[in-house]
Amino acid sequence: MPKLNRRQFSAVAASALVAASTRRSIAQSPNEQLGVCIAGVNSRGAEHIRGFMKDQRTVISAIVDVDSEVASRRASEIENKQGKRPAVFTDVRQALDSDGFDILTCATPNHWHALMGVWAMQAGKDVYIEKPISHNIHEGRALVEAAKRYGRMFQTGTQSRSSSACQDAVKFIADGGIGDVKFARGLCYKRRKSIGRLGDYPIPPNVDFNLWSGPATYTDPKLTREKFHYDWHWQRHYGNGDLGNQGPHQTDIARWGLGLDRHPNAILTYGGRLGYQAERKDPSYVDAGDTGNTEVSIYDYGDKCIVFETRGLDVSKTAGDEVERMFGKDPGNKIGVIFYGSEGYVAQISYGHCRAFDKDMKEIKSFTANDVGDAHFANFISACASRDYGSLNADAMTGHLSAGVSHLGNISYYLGEKNPASADEIKAAVSKIKSLDDNAATLQRTIEHLEANGVDLDKTPLALGPMLEFDPETEKFTNNDDANAMLTREYRKGFEVPEGANV
Ligand SMILES: NC(=O)c1ccc[n+]([C@@H]2O[C@H](COP(=O)([O-])OP(=O)(O)OC[C@H]3O[C@@H](n4cnc5c(N)ncnc54)[C@H](O)[C@@H]3O)[C@@H](O)[C@H]2O)c1
Repeated sequence: MPKLNRRQFSAVAASALVAASTRRSIAQSPNEQLGVCIAGVNSRGAEHIRGFMKDQRTVISAIVDVDSEVASRRASEIENKQGKRPAVFTDVRQALDSDGFDILTCATPNHWHALMGVWAMQAGKDVYIEKPISHNIHEGRALVEAAKRYGRMFQTGTQSRSSSACQDAVKFIADGGIGDVKFARGLCYKRRKSIGRLGDYPIPPNVDFNLWSGPATYTDPKLTREKFHYDWHWQRHYGNGDLGNQGPHQTDIARWGLGLDRHPNAILTYGGRLGYQAERKDPSYVDAGDTGNTEVSIYDYGDKCIVFETRGLDVSKTAGDEVERMFGKDPGNKIGVIFYGSEGYVAQISYGHCRAFDKDMKEIKSFTANDVGDAHFANFISACASRDYGSLNADAMTGHLSAGVSHLGNISYYLGEKNPASADEIKAAVSKIKSLDDNAATLQRTIEHLEANGVDLDKTPLALGPMLEFDPETEKFTNNDDANAMLTREYRKGFEVPEGANV
């Protein structure tokens, strides 16, 4: 029988749903393993390999990577440990056409997540998609609708959802452990050095750059960053900055702890990509990244509120007393979420550690967990076996809403990045968004942090994004057409992520 192309496949896939879900090997025999195909096996993909190889219910049947060197290295590692070499593909479409597995996991760069997820679900696969599951809001919606339409299991790679420490802390909050809680502050105080000068660099010869680019802009081929892998996070065609990289773990926990199962009503971000000129002692230095390394995003959820602070410069002297008391005094990164209650605080300070404090900052409870990543893979594999979508700890909607927080914050930032603003102008603007934070104090702390890192705000000022009003139901902005245009992207022919209604 001739192979179906992707379009034909999607047309017949919906009608083949029942057949697809009943032919699962694990459902037929508890001794059979589910076959897993892992797409993107460089860094995070290696963790997928480890996790799915460790769980006796799964076997790595295939891997996909557009970097042939990475692919063959990982295939040999798997063969050594597993005893059987996985099938190796460069193009995920060929892997899906081969139909030799049940599950597709995706640890590629962000711009590929949604399309791969949609294609895989159309091909009858269950999917585990790394955070952020989408590169924009339109893509997240497509994944939510595809999971529904094709009846597939979908796990978002936000492993904190399977951390008993986070689960217990969220329950503690919900049970009134720190009183009434309406406000959470997400912190991504994570040092990110410059990725090198904006330039013209060669594409590594072992990479298929056409396939690597996929749905994103194809730059002809030309690379403007020095390091090929990983540093795409800081180029917006591919990545989403740290608000959309580390951020989705914490935006997710913040939403979860506040019980917010929806998008915000309004968003405002100020920030910049600042400090690298001072660091390099070269005022003309242009770093190759174009995402914010400093962002303060304010999210109005009606009677609740999230503020997310992204700081890529050194925070060793600028984290502040409150954060140091909760996270510890060591000078390193401070990544987590603080929930502010009427009777105290809960701080998530790592994937497996949360702490509760009374109003005097005395620790009253500690929640810990081990092997959080393994628990998250296990939760997904169990759902693939049971076909119980409700048992998933981080389903498609969870991933969509949490990635959405990052995307909405970045849209305000991108729209404002050419709008330099003084502290007074920002102060006036943030006083107009409904917020439960002391916005002026957060601004002041941000300014002090930048100045401590040598940033001269007169020469390289903060940029002020517009306050965007958002309709959580229609997933459209109601006061800004330019912002609406940024809810999606221009897709390359053959790599289009369909509208949710058309998946
Ligand atoms: N859950 C977590 O804690 C966690 C941790 C780290 C990274 N991540 C996520 O994992 C993803 C990957 O991050 P990374 O650090 O491994 O990036 P990376 O750049 O090091 O690796 C990505 C790999 O994907 C490959 N790739 C690119 N396009 C592909 C395609 N079309 N098909 C197959 N392979 C393709 C690349 O060649 C590379 O080997 C990111 O989305 C990141 O946000 C999650």
